[in-house]
Amino acid sequence: METIKYIAGDSSSRIIIGEDWKKTKDRIDTEKSFIITDTNIKKIYGADFPPCPVISISPGEDLKSMATVEKLIEHLLSMGADRSSFLLGIGGGVICDITGFVASVYMRGIAFGFVSTSLLSQVDASIGGKNGVNVDRVKNIAGCFNHPSFVVCDPSMLNTLTEEEYLSGLGELIKHALIKDIDLLGSIEDNLEAIKRRDNLIMEKLIAESIRIKVSVISQDEKEKGERRLLNFGHTIGHAIESSTGLKHGISVAHGMNLAAEISHEEGMLDKGEIQRSRDILLGLGLLPEFTILKGKLAEYIYKDKKKEGDVLFFVKLEGIGNGKVKKIPVESLLRILADKGY
Ligand SMILES: NC(=O)c1ccc[n+]([C@@H]2O[C@H](COP(=O)([O-])OP(=O)(O)OC[C@H]3O[C@@H](n4cnc5c(N)ncnc54)[C@H](O)[C@@H]3O)[C@@H](O)[C@H]2O)c1
Repeated sequence: METIKYIAGDSSSRIIIGEDWKKTKDRIDTEKSFIITDTNIKKIYGADFPPCPVISISPGEDLKSMATVEKLIEHLLSMGADRSSFLLGIGGGVICDITGFVASVYMRGIAFGFVSTSLLSQVDASIGGKNGVNVDRVKNIAGCFNHPSFVVCDPSMLNTLTEEEYLSGLGELIKHALIKDIDLLGSIEDNLEAIKRRDNLIMEKLIAESIRIKVSVISQDEKEKGERRLLNFGHTIGHAIESSTGLKHGISVAHGMNLAAEISHEEGMLDKGEIQRSRDILLGLGLLPEFTILKGKLAEYIYKDKKKEGDVLFFVKLEGIGNGKVKKIPVESLLRILADKGY
């Protein structure tokens, strides 16, 4: 078990990796807490939830909306939640993003924490204080920065994830290695089989390393004015693939990273061996499944990207493995490159 503490702005947060999630009841005042979860998680783990009122919503990205936020607030009001209440989100990235957002606006802000249940939320979504919901299919367009008091990441919960959801999380874990840590990439390469069989001890170590990278980035740049943009490696193209194909987030990001690595190679920043190495890992773990997309569709979504500033995008390239670089590129240039690649 390992605890990673961080301070960002005025907040401090602790991430506990490898602790039995059932001990979370000892971290909260159960008299003052409310649980937000989805029906999948409630079905599998509900019997062991801390003894608090539970609000469960249907699983999936469609529920990550303002309408859900409103409904949850109505529920909390009717159950008597007040300024001293605590919200515990138990779930994947969708539940963490919504819980953090609801807690941030309910009565102008109440305390919250997460039991992060999917690999994607353990290595990414629940870490770093970004909360929010989608509006009109534009992802995370309404949101805020606000940090949970704690995040519990218990790798044994990954055993019940579907293969697709597990793969999706691996995409974000590999991202952290590609942008910041060549040693983590080596550990992933050395443990491909253990990763595939979800070996809890190996995963605990890899998750902790991956979280350490994210925490070091967000501690330097909480509000994404500079260094934090590195975490968007693979996301400009990945989000567009996700929105237009319905592929899972981390799998779309894996395709986005692969294309961004190709672009880095074409611009002389990444050598042939390095691009092959990153592709081999993604392929080896099954993260580059084929997909079809109408020509021009990616462009449509990239135009909507909220990380675009005017006609310019912050696009992350690799200057060698483990060394991501944020570069400004005109949107038109990226669209031309993608069109030349047949997208
Ligand atoms: N806030 C951030 O910084 C950040 C970063 C990355 C992604 N995100 C967001 O995270 C979301 C994706 O997260 P996700 O992939 O966890 O999606 P999710 O929360 O929808 O979970 C995926 C599915 O897995 C199920 N599930 C979760 N944990 C399980 C478990 N242990 N056993 C069985 N089933 C389980 C859920 O019920 C759901 O059906 C997206 O909305 C994305 O925008 C946010």
